[in-house]
Amino acid sequence: MKKHLYAIVPLLWLCAAAPSIAEEDSRALVQLPDMMQQHMMSNMRDHLAAINEILIMLGEDESEKAADIAESRLGMSSLGLHGAGHMAGFMPEEMQQIGTRMHRAASHFSLQAQVGNTSSIYRALSEVTSACVACHANYRIR
Ligand code: HEC
Repeated sequence: MKKHLYAIVPLLWLCAAAPSIAEEDSRALVQLPDMMQQHMMSNMRDHLAAINEILIMLGEDESEKAADIAESRLGMSSLGLHGAGHMAGFMPEEMQQIGTRMHRAASHFSLQAQVGNTSSIYRALSEVTSACVACHANYRIR
């Protein structure tokens, strides 16, 4: 029994130490006015909901619907909806570029969902999510 404890204690210690290792945060802090912060986070939650709905539609062979969701909620047509023009001014240049890349990728996906084959459709969708990942890896707003 004691032997097992010797094995478990270091394990517990490792688990406790892990979060502090993961917490080392090298993302750049982008300061936004309060209202804009909330607006951006609500956009973000809708981005994730949109990706989820796109995947559901693709799984149901409703790629036209997936195309519509992508274009209207993530694509170039969604820029007005997100107040992107107003927000971009607060973002560093590179962050803006990743944002633009995401909107372009979503419009490209929308096209692929209408004319592409399975692998080109998923490749185009992964270009959208890669832009999400790239921005999240580099920036935070709080
Ligand atoms: C141009 C940069 C950028 C892009 C592109 C981007 N995000 Fe974000 N997102 C952020 C930032 C910055 C935060 C806040 C992170 C923080 O402060 O910890 C965030 C937060 C979030 C959150 C958390 C919302 C909350 O209420 O806690 C979700 C969910 C999210 N993003 C989803 C997405 C998805 C899905 C995509 C792609 C379709 C995406 N984001 C694209 C910058 C971006």
